[in-house]
Amino acid sequence: MNDFRFYSPTRFVFGRGVTDRAGDEIAKLGFKRALLVFGQGSVVRTGTLDRVKASLDAAGVAHAELGGVRPNPEITSVREGIALAREFEADIVVPVGGGSAMDAAKAIALGAVYDGDAWDFWRKRATPTDHLPLACVVTIPASGSEASNSCVISNDEEHLKCGLNTDLNRPVLAIMDPELTFTLPPYQTAAGVTDMIAHIMERFFSGQPAVDVTDNIACGMIRAVMDAAPRVMEDPKDYDARANIMWVGTLAHNGLAGLGLGVPGGRDGDWTCHGLEHELSAFDPKITHGAGLAVIFPAWMRYVWREHPERFLAFGEQVFGIEPVDPAVDDLSDIDEEITPERAVEDAVEATIDELQDFFVSLGMPRTLSEFGMTEDDIEKLMPGLSINRGELFGSFKKLTLDDARAIYRSAL
Ligand code: NZQ
Ligand code: ZN
Repeated sequence: MNDFRFYSPTRFVFGRGVTDRAGDEIAKLGFKRALLVFGQGSVVRTGTLDRVKASLDAAGVAHAELGGVRPNPEITSVREGIALAREFEADIVVPVGGGSAMDAAKAIALGAVYDGDAWDFWRKRATPTDHLPLACVVTIPASGSEASNSCVISNDEEHLKCGLNTDLNRPVLAIMDPELTFTLPPYQTAAGVTDMIAHIMERFFSGQPAVDVTDNIACGMIRAVMDAAPRVMEDPKDYDARANIMWVGTLAHNGLAGLGLGVPGGRDGDWTCHGLEHELSAFDPKITHGAGLAVIFPAWMRYVWREHPERFLAFGEQVFGIEPVDPAVDDLSDIDEEITPERAVEDAVEATIDELQDFFVSLGMPRTLSEFGMTEDDIEKLMPGLSINRGELFGSFKKLTLDDARAIYRSAL
């Protein structure tokens, strides 16, 4: 087990109706002026925003608001929010929404106390040293942003979507009411489920040797979410299934799922698939992050698995119960060809990747990039951003070059 540091300072208030306690919980922490940040209308339509505002009023917390943050949030609304936070003298930023509202809020929280332009943190890699605290009201389980150290912002003018990791990004409070997720469209539910599984897999496939405790946590969480996802597709108001998905979404990305699997001196996972996906949604902001991952992850897996087949075998066994056939034990009388040990491993790994991809597709996720309308010609347009964000050599499970990235994209068309 590799050494690790684990810092997850977020206070979680989880359960039915906790939305109405947001104001109270924020006031208890000593905050008095909240800047609310939300998306393109879902929280207005569902009444969630009104409930949060009423709870702030009841707790004596003043509030201002920035709405209209789009999925794959853009730096323009961040700048708008920074001006508002300063003008209103906010002492806390309160996103009500998903990863997009939360990441916009995180960027506002950093930018509000920074002298330069907030984009410096992403493009110039300026190091943030201070921020306003954050309290999230989560409406979609997916990004795990409510407890993560990450903040992903797009800049349309520069055709970039970049991440920034700092512990300053970790919220002090997350209000998590699974009932808020009853209104999620199936596509967003599915994309969220895919994203959280991807957060676990980025860490599982770090290229580092097995860590029993973490592997069990990781695969157990994936099994739980794979069990719950079809249930919410069938019944969007299945509270227990929604609640399980919501909590996995958080634990998938607060760091827990990768402890001991981190790359010494490096990141807590491989993160190539996230890198490859972020270029898709930078290229076309209409591409939902989780949907992009549903296509990219299996393609990456097929490309790299030979580097550490043992990790794929462990994953296949723990998540799907798939094991390589053993000619000494299994009855292979109906198979004509000879099954060598190598062939048995290859078959088991392929079956594992197929099962995973079929699961994503069964939820309504795409299988190929062409389902986003992308063609071979588009691949080259992804390369400048990828090279800025990841450099010429990236990944820890297997070191990849930009040519490898091209090959993975091509295989996913
Ligand atoms: O914009 P509104 O109208 O609110 O609608 C949203 C949006 O269209 C809708 N929605 C959210 N909650 C709803 C709802 N509709 C009905 N009922 C509800 N309860 O769902 C759509 C997607 O929302 P969004 O916030 O974009 O989704 P998600 O949470 O998947 O966030 C995606 C963003 O997070 C980033 C992604 O790259 C992307 O920009 N990520 C952030 C991470 C982090 N900070 O740690 C890690 C992730 O890997 C990811 O990169
Ligand atoms: Zn993600």
